[in-house]
Order: sequence, then structure tokens, then C-alpha cells
Amino acid sequence: MTTTTTTITQEEQNNKHVTNDQTQQEIDQTAKMQAINVNVWFGQKHVLKSVNLTVKPNTVTAIIGPSGCGKSTFLRCFNRMHELAPNAKMTGKILLDCEDIYERKIDPVQIRRRVGMVFQKPNPFPTMSIYDNVAAGLKLTGTKNGKHLDDIVKRSLEQATLWDEVHEDLKKPGTSISGGQQQRLCIARAIALQPEVILMDEPCSALDPIATAKIEKLIIELKRNYAVVIVTHNMQQASRISDYTAFMYMGELIEFGETRQLFENPKVKLTENYITGAFG
Ligand SMILES: Nc1ncnc2c1ncn2[C@@H]1O[C@H](COP(=O)(O)OP(=O)(O)OP(=O)(O)O)[C@@H](O)[C@H]1O
Ligand SMILES: [Mg+2]
Repeated sequence: MTTTTTTITQEEQNNKHVTNDQTQQEIDQTAKMQAINVNVWFGQKHVLKSVNLTVKPNTVTAIIGPSGCGKSTFLRCFNRMHELAPNAKMTGKILLDCEDIYERKIDPVQIRRRVGMVFQKPNPFPTMSIYDNVAAGLKLTGTKNGKHLDDIVKRSLEQATLWDEVHEDLKKPGTSISGGQQQRLCIARAIALQPEVILMDEPCSALDPIATAKIEKLIIELKRNYAVVIVTHNMQQASRISDYTAFMYMGELIEFGETRQLFENPKVKLTENYITGAFG
């Protein structure tokens, strides 16, 4: 995570700006993050096609769509994880507070600190204790052991609603707790860095309904402090916890709007077919 090689050449950088200038997408000053005309290729394969999306502060945005439509790829564009894939290429802009995170002067490590990520499979660092899992990122960025670090670890675990369950076991391995607890540990690890946005890629898909309910409650809590973008295959989950929903299909953003409107009164037939299960 600390090193990165950008796969965008100077020529492509230039093209990217030409493309954007030509399309003249407007910057939304009220957005926390904004994707403008994002295209992604893996080798020759064009997997995201002119995607535009706005993420408002203090909201949950859900991304839904069939397997392979580009949800994870799109999510990874939001914190420059995408460029870590060797054959990946991207054009377009991703703005954070109206500033393009792909500008040359921007440090991707800083972006990944401001835009945290939680993955599908809980992935605590296997050799580290519960405490160290939460503290790891902070230690890397120079926070020393001591009361200040203890306080952040406690606060992060509290925010992730895990503190009560683990506060007597902080020295135990991060992998010694249940899957649902490990996922909340990973959320605590993301929160500890005090990000501004949290990206979650199917964070509940490996969890039982009780653990899922806890994470859903937590996500709703998190939006008080952060903008949350969540990829989910669970339509009920999207409608329960999100304020805005994006429906993607074969690399395109088909429909984006307020969750209630999208589920109750979709504008596009394809969206309706997908959310009613009449896909085929
Ligand atoms: N590293 C990669 N190299 C080549 N192709 C890739 C890579 N990652 C993803 N793809 C391709 O890009 C497309 C979009 O994949 P992506 O993982 O974003 O889909 P998804 O919507 O998240 O699917 P799922 O719901 O199954 O997780 C797919 O066709 C996939 O095969
Ligand atoms: Mg995916």
C-alpha cells in the first residue's frame, strides 16, 4: 500500500483532460466525492464506461448490479487502489472536495488515508493483536505508543461497536475473534486513521444475519461523521441503509438517485427488471 506505480502515461493524461474538457462535466461543489466521466480498461477490456457519480457528505451511497458489472473496480477508483492492478488504465476524474485525486502532485498514500476501505472478506493482519490491528496505520504514520494511541484505539473500537466485546482481549490475535467481529475490527482499523470517506466492498457477504445487522447499524452511525460508499448484492440492505443508490450494468451506470425513488419508482426499465429479479 505504501508504493504505487501509476499506469497512466503522459499521453493518456493529456487525452483524459481532452475527454473531460469535451464532455464539460460540471463540478458539484456540494459533493464530498465525484466521479466524472470515468473509463477503465483491463488490458483491452473496457470495464467502466463514462461513469459519473456524486457522493454527498454524511450519506450512504449503495452501488448495486450484477456480478462482473464493475462495482468493485469503480469503488477502487475512489482511493487509487485501482492503479495498483498491473494492467489497469483509467481516464476521467475522481474529485475529493472538488480536487482531482489523480493529479500528479497528489500523494496516493494520503488519498488512501483520507478515503479508507473495508473489503468483502475480513482481513485483519494475521500476526498482529487486536490492539495492533487498529493501531497499525497510525504507527506507520508516526504515532508513538502511549496514551494518545490507546485513546484512538479505544475510540475506534467503540465507534465500530466492538469495544465492549474485546476490551479485555486486546492482546489476543486479531484473527482469534469471529468473522463478524473481525469485520468490525477492520472497520475500526479504517476509522482509526480518521478518514473522510469509507468505501466498503460487500462488507457483510461473509456474515450471518446478526453480524450483518450490527454492521448495518454501524454504517448508519458512521454517516454522521463520514461519507460511506458500499457495494452490496443485497437489495434489502441497500434499501435499508443507503440514502442514494447507483445501479450499474455491464460497466455503465444505468440509474442513480435517491434510494427510495430508485427502488419504488425506477426511471429505467433495466433497473426495474434488476430490482424485481425479472432479469434474464
Ligand atoms: N485485475 C483484473 N484484471 C483483468 N480483469 C479484471 C480485473 N479485475 C476485474 N476485472 C474484470 O473487470 C470486470 C468488472 O469486475 P469487478 O470485479 O469490478 O465486478 P463486480 O461488479 O465487482 O463483480 P462482483 O459482484 O462479482 O464482485 C469483470 O469483467 C472482471 O472480470
Ligand atoms: Mg466486486
